[in-house]
Amino acid sequence: MDNRPIGFFDSGLGGLTCVPYLMRALPLERIIYFGDTARTPYGSKAVSTIRAFSMEIADFLVENGVKLIVIACNTVSSTCLAELRARHPGVPVLGIISPAAHAVAKTCGADSHIGIIGTKATIRSDAYPRKILHLSPALDIAQIACPALVPLIEEGILQNEIMDLTIRYYLDHFLAYNRIDTLVLGCTHYPLIRKNIQKLYPYLRIIDPSEEILQSIQDTLERNVLFAAAEKGEHVFYASDLSENFVNMIHRILEFTNFDIAFKNIDLDRYRKEGQAP
Ligand code: DGL
Repeated sequence: MDNRPIGFFDSGLGGLTCVPYLMRALPLERIIYFGDTARTPYGSKAVSTIRAFSMEIADFLVENGVKLIVIACNTVSSTCLAELRARHPGVPVLGIISPAAHAVAKTCGADSHIGIIGTKATIRSDAYPRKILHLSPALDIAQIACPALVPLIEEGILQNEIMDLTIRYYLDHFLAYNRIDTLVLGCTHYPLIRKNIQKLYPYLRIIDPSEEILQSIQDTLERNVLFAAAEKGEHVFYASDLSENFVNMIHRILEFTNFDIAFKNIDLDRYRKEGQAP
């Protein structure tokens, strides 16, 4: 048994969409979440920049005693998973692409037309098609980057006309042209606009990687004998720029819980240089 927390991280608030699944399934586990809100979005940045930011966050989580790191970000998972694992060989590091690819391969028949939406970096990496085709070579896959969605979501512009128009700008032609019937939300921000997408295209079957990663977390905890046994502790949510929207979104996403939650602003530069107390 191991009562250390599980570390989650993302470029911003998107990775929060993974958290409720874990809290519901494993209520004894404590979470440290890091959202790099000061530097979001990652998806339009160079891979070298994404890597450098991700290393800093993983170091921070490890220094704060996590027993497992969940990369709650498709952009980071598709570009730096191997590097993060190599940097912290003593801590299991889980990416989000593989569990979602397994869900696609398991549930989609040979006549399915699968669409992947994600950030520029995720789409450019080709991580989803590679992984899915490795598991199920006959599947038909098309993908498109939707870079304007994350900034709108980080601003809290969700259920309204601007968001719907932006979704249609990217998806109307893409879905029709490729005859997509199954859509993978290849960015952890997108479950926050799942309702919009489903309303605009009710025939679509949606696969949400934020949900699919739960099984991998459970398997990893079990394999490494890492399940917590203690009574509920406090969940800590760090942000590199603790905005009102970030706090509101956490309250909204976790409204079903009665857990203790703490919010903390952390300047990673200062933390690295001066060892700022978290
Ligand atoms: N939520 C992230 C993802 O899953 C990153 C979004 C971004 O920062 O561009 O890809």
